[in-house]
Amino acid sequence: MLVLLAGIFVVHIATVVMLFVSTIGNAWVVSDDGIRSVGLWKNCTSGNCYQALSYADEDALKAVQAFMILSIIFSVIALLVFVFQLFTMEKGNRFFLSGAVTLLCWLCILIGASIYTHRYANSNRSGFEPYHHGYSFILTWICFCFSFIIGILYLVLRKK
Ligand SMILES: *[C@@H]1O[C@H](CO)[C@@H](O)[C@H](O)[C@H]1NC(C)=O
Repeated sequence: MLVLLAGIFVVHIATVVMLFVSTIGNAWVVSDDGIRSVGLWKNCTSGNCYQALSYADEDALKAVQAFMILSIIFSVIALLVFVFQLFTMEKGNRFFLSGAVTLLCWLCILIGASIYTHRYANSNRSGFEPYHHGYSFILTWICFCFSFIIGILYLVLRKK
């Protein structure tokens, strides 16, 4: 039980870190030669990210940015709630609040990553070819899986 809780805690922290890295890392789509990359904020050449994205004004991109930031906020809140419940909640109860907030985080990643995948990731909007998905994009989908698993585990687990 304690090992399981500790494991979830570690995975949750990893999820927060990965969400943060993926959101600020401008590597959602990367050219195959590795020189160019674009993310949610900037268009990079050889690691220099000064140039704005050509589609910076599009509502779809702003929605992705907003949902990714919301997902970070919810994942941090869920982690704090979990720690709080760990110390204050009565034995036998479920970590319902942590689970609910984690699933909100999962929902935000679902929406943000889906919009990005649909609008930008596979449509050569980046302006360079050939390209592949960068680490930010991959981390985001890993966080999508992780946040769902921890969210469900929080709902199911009882405090011993
Ligand atoms: C990124 O910059 C390159 C070179 O200036 C340009 O060809 C490409 O269209 C830009 N892509 C985006 C998404 O802004």
